Amino acid sequence: MKREDVIVSEAQILEQKEFINKIRTINVARSSKPMAYVVTYGCQQNENDSERIRGMLCEAGYDFCNDAKDADIIIYNTCAVREHAELKVYGNLGALKALKRKKPELIIGVCGCMMQQEHVAKRIKQKYTHVDIIFGTHTLYTLPQLIYNVLDTHERSINVIDAHGYIAEDMPIRREGDVLAYVSVMYGCNNFCSYCIVPYVRGRERSRSCEDIIREVREVASEGYKEVMLLGQNVNSYGNDLDEEIDFSDLLVRVCEVEGIERIRFMTSHPKDFNEKLIETIASNKKICNQLHLPLQAGSDDVLLKMNRKYTSGDYIKKVQAVRKRIPDITLTTDIIVGFPTETNEDFEKTIDVLKEVRFDSIYSFIYSKRTGTPAAKLEMALDDAQIHKNFDRLLEVQNEISKQINDSYIGRICDVLVEGRSKTDDNVVSGRTEGGKIVHIKDADESLKGKIVRVKITAAKTWFLTGEIVPN
Ligand code: SAH
Ligand code: SF4
Ligand code: F3S
Repeated sequence: MKREDVIVSEAQILEQKEFINKIRTINVARSSKPMAYVVTYGCQQNENDSERIRGMLCEAGYDFCNDAKDADIIIYNTCAVREHAELKVYGNLGALKALKRKKPELIIGVCGCMMQQEHVAKRIKQKYTHVDIIFGTHTLYTLPQLIYNVLDTHERSINVIDAHGYIAEDMPIRREGDVLAYVSVMYGCNNFCSYCIVPYVRGRERSRSCEDIIREVREVASEGYKEVMLLGQNVNSYGNDLDEEIDFSDLLVRVCEVEGIERIRFMTSHPKDFNEKLIETIASNKKICNQLHLPLQAGSDDVLLKMNRKYTSGDYIKKVQAVRKRIPDITLTTDIIVGFPTETNEDFEKTIDVLKEVRFDSIYSFIYSKRTGTPAAKLEMALDDAQIHKNFDRLLEVQNEISKQINDSYIGRICDVLVEGRSKTDDNVVSGRTEGGKIVHIKDADESLKGKIVRVKITAAKTWFLTGEIVPN
């Protein structure tokens, strides 16, 4: 793909900004400020897309609410990675029908990864006639035009295309947090793991230019953000599609140079591409957090081969050893799928073996979900549902014990914690994260610490979080 075919032109972006102005003109004439409700399913990439959606809505004159009942426009940004996520969307969308009947001028939009699947977009079009706007991941930047069309014609507005994918720079953004900012460095995925829908709904890998990324990081630093999370489905491929000679490690070094940003995280790394250069880059730059999310998926080499992951459990363990040799205190997390079609109980035991050998700080585990259109969907299932659930429960049991043991070993240690804000449950407690990404609740602390890195003595540990007290400097 030629670069100019990937980048959305300035003229197209300007056109959308004109639609934003037109919507704003309509909105300021209303008796009260219209409300928007944006609901996000799925991964950080989707969260980041929703931040763009909120940015566009905000400039178009909308305020935000947390209840569908108060909204003048509702947008569902959907995820297609597992069936469970899709069912939730169908259920919630169905429930909006009554609301729309009561309030016909309510605009309902659905977007994101689910819409990039033909059968889903068709189903929404045919069966969910109360939905006004449908758009996919490739046409997110056209939301202003789609909203304006509905306001202008009172007809449905649909824009889903099957494409390699684009990069739209300079769209407005309204970020969720005020300490941590998400910055996408690339979009799409070329890996085609056999179970995964992401490459089909997000298109091919395309990297943002280093210049644009650095500009965004500088911008968030000037707004007071202390931490950035660089996002991509496989950040290790960053730069492969650029003319510029740059890889992800080089990009990280450039991000480290931005003043004001104190912590840098990234996700996700693919074990097949995770290399020595990146280990060295993490080790030698203080701002890059000693944290690594490295999805294993399964411990059996047969299963890994059928998953098209392109590494063996031995390769994986060697990479972990190399990281730990250079960065002994690295926090390591992973993703595991239980019940891949060909996975037998014997295969599953190998996942348990790797868990016990590597001893991850924590894992994200998922029961395999069949995704129409992926190669794995054609495979016969080796185990029945009951056995898969049994294996899943056992996996959690083994991991929870490991997580608790690792967290217990933090008791008495002093950690640097970046405070993110007040705890949701206790007024006297603030929460933040260690460099390794572990959640720490700090007792008897004031919210004025938000955005600051404080020294905390860990006094107690649970499977999912630590508790501590501030230590005077
Ligand atoms: N690009 C990232 C994230 C992909 S989606 C990566 O490669 O890790 C996040 C996780 O969802 C994956 O790591 C995988 O563990 C899980 N996942 C993807 N497809 C799935 C499916 N069909 N069923 C169950 N889990 C799945
Ligand atoms: Fe899916 Fe594999 Fe790409 Fe991750 S690397 S998004 S699991 S295809
Ligand atoms: Fe993310 Fe789900 Fe799409 S995991 S990329 S929102 S399919």
